[in-house]
Amino acid sequence: MITRFAEVDPVSPDPKIIEEAGELIRNGGLVAFPTETVYGLGGDAFKAESSKKIYAAKGRPSDNPLIVHIADPEAAEKAASDIPETYWLLADAFWPGPLTMIIKKSEAMPEETTGGLDTVAIRLPSHPVAAALIKASGGYIAAPSANASGRPSPTSAKHVKEDLDGRIDMIIDGGSCSIGLESTIVDLSSGKPQILRPGFITKEMLEDVLGEVELDPTLLKPSAGRPKAPGMRYRHYAPQGEMHIYIGEQQAVSERINSELDKAKAYGKRCGVICTEETRDKYEADSVVSVGSRDDVKGAAAEIYAVLRDFDDKGIEVICSEAFSEEGYGLALMNRLYKACGYQVVRV
Ligand code: TXA
Ligand code: MG
Repeated sequence: MITRFAEVDPVSPDPKIIEEAGELIRNGGLVAFPTETVYGLGGDAFKAESSKKIYAAKGRPSDNPLIVHIADPEAAEKAASDIPETYWLLADAFWPGPLTMIIKKSEAMPEETTGGLDTVAIRLPSHPVAAALIKASGGYIAAPSANASGRPSPTSAKHVKEDLDGRIDMIIDGGSCSIGLESTIVDLSSGKPQILRPGFITKEMLEDVLGEVELDPTLLKPSAGRPKAPGMRYRHYAPQGEMHIYIGEQQAVSERINSELDKAKAYGKRCGVICTEETRDKYEADSVVSVGSRDDVKGAAAEIYAVLRDFDDKGIEVICSEAFSEEGYGLALMNRLYKACGYQVVRV
């Protein structure tokens, strides 16, 4: 298959290109498109065949449900049933934006899209290209992140091309994604609201609207059991190199990372370091990447997937990463780093 490429203005995309992409989706095709979080790989959520194609293109297990993207909150009435009051409260507060809600699915929503579950994940993205495409394609786009399964999520069209060129109908290039980490997922389908995947919309922000919100206990302690979001069970976001995160007082962490680098270099390994402006001068390796200032979680989060992909491109075999605060949005960044290294954490 030849994948068509189209560059658009991220704020006011060319309506002709959007119409063409919408028609592809309505006819059962797949189109990758930018959102404010990461690029998505979209198909018609109400077509079981489209969802099957998405799994095949990504090489993703088909028990891992897709997120249904809509263009106005009321659209959930066709995709879902028994919509709780909490859905409308959160929609009002955070949509359009980087929040996904799990609610009961409707009869009409195919099980191929929900990975066999009786619930459905719904999100209303704020990116103008995503919003226009959803409208042009019939109102319901099932879309996982547009990476090959197991690779870091794509935050630019170039990343999508690396993974999916020749496997999908079209890639819309709308520049890089401003947030760079996937949406927060909150489960509203039973009991207390529970965060299944941390993201830009934090626990504190959700609690301001809903009162108490729980965290899936496996987010803090992987040994606590099976994560509720099937996608959180796989080793994800994985760079090819062997990665460790070093946690502790800054000076001690830098010393420890340097001694690990010395060892790895002695074996002739190519090494990479993830650090911050405050510490970048302390390291020497094949690739030393500062993700910005230590206090700027947003900046670091926006960079992190591109950094992991870049290490792969450079053939980095050993990756040492500093840690960040887990307060607020920091929890989302650390969650992705933990998953990237398979929870190989060294406390210094
Ligand atoms: O920011 C995002 O959410 C991006 C953009 C493209 O919107 N999408 C995204 O999709 O990250 P994906 O497929 O990579 O991640 C979806 C996650 C998976 O962990 C999946 O298991 C979980 O959502 N999920 C989907 N439906 C679910 C459901 N009914 N119950 C529990 N978890 C669900
Ligand atoms: Mg994904």
